[in-house]
Amino acid sequence: MAITVAGIEKSFGELAVLKGVDLEVEQGGIFALLGSNGAGKTTLVRILSTLLRPDAGTATVAGNDVVSDGQAVREAISLTGQFAAVDEVLTGRENLALVARLRHLPDPGRVADELLARFSLTEAGGRRAGTYSGGMRRRLDIAMSLIGEPPIIFLDEPTTGLDPEARIEVWDTVRELAGRGATILLTTQYLDEAEQLADRIAILHEGRILVHGTLADLKALMPPAKVEYIEKQPSLEDVFLRLVGKKEAA
Ligand SMILES: Nc1ncnc2c1ncn2[C@@H]1O[C@H](COP(=O)(O)OP(=O)(O)OP(=O)(O)O)[C@@H](O)[C@H]1O
Ligand SMILES: [Mg+2]
Repeated sequence: MAITVAGIEKSFGELAVLKGVDLEVEQGGIFALLGSNGAGKTTLVRILSTLLRPDAGTATVAGNDVVSDGQAVREAISLTGQFAAVDEVLTGRENLALVARLRHLPDPGRVADELLARFSLTEAGGRRAGTYSGGMRRRLDIAMSLIGEPPIIFLDEPTTGLDPEARIEVWDTVRELAGRGATILLTTQYLDEAEQLADRIAILHEGRILVHGTLADLKALMPPAKVEYIEKQPSLEDVFLRLVGKKEAA
């Protein structure tokens, strides 16, 4: 297992956000963690990436305990947070080379050029990142987090605020990373994103994992509705809204 989570609890003061989260993420492929605003997705990602200590429970990443072996966890992961970590004053190439230098890699300029090419940013590489579009900035942010080729990649809402074209570019990037054998855990509020990308999906709701499985597993939770003699397959959105108890979309 790339990631195991058992009985994780976390409160902020009176607010119990995670109330016993259990989860297993297999090696390789794309795992989507779904949940409404405030469900605790970022909180769980921060615990798994050692930025936050759980109140109870245990979690391992790449076989290392997130509390007692934080350094080993940090060496095995990359994290692209919900808010971009790009320095707007530097060029795209300078941003990448800076991270490569911080990671003590030989030849940071070459590392930067390779990543620019891989993320279709070669032409923009000499421009200040502050001039980039949202999609370009997000791609640069993901590229920065990949320096050093970590086997486990956390992407917290990688496409929030992006236009449809930029979302598709990020999706292609995520698929490419998975194709190279990385394990990707992404959080999203976009159900179609999970439907498009994820091999496995978990829904976090009211502090616990409500369901966990493949898209087909989740869809099987709802019987197909008969509409004028044509069987209508439920979308992931139908399943999500049914499970979290909100009004179904018409
Ligand atoms: N450091 C903190 N101090 C106090 N409350 C916090 C802190 N971090 C998170 N919370 C609260 O915990 C709850 C879960 O937050 P979290 O950011 O994990 O949700 P999320 O599922 O990532 O939501 P979103 O989809 O909006 O990103 C929210 O009610 C939030 O206000
Ligand atoms: Mg969040």
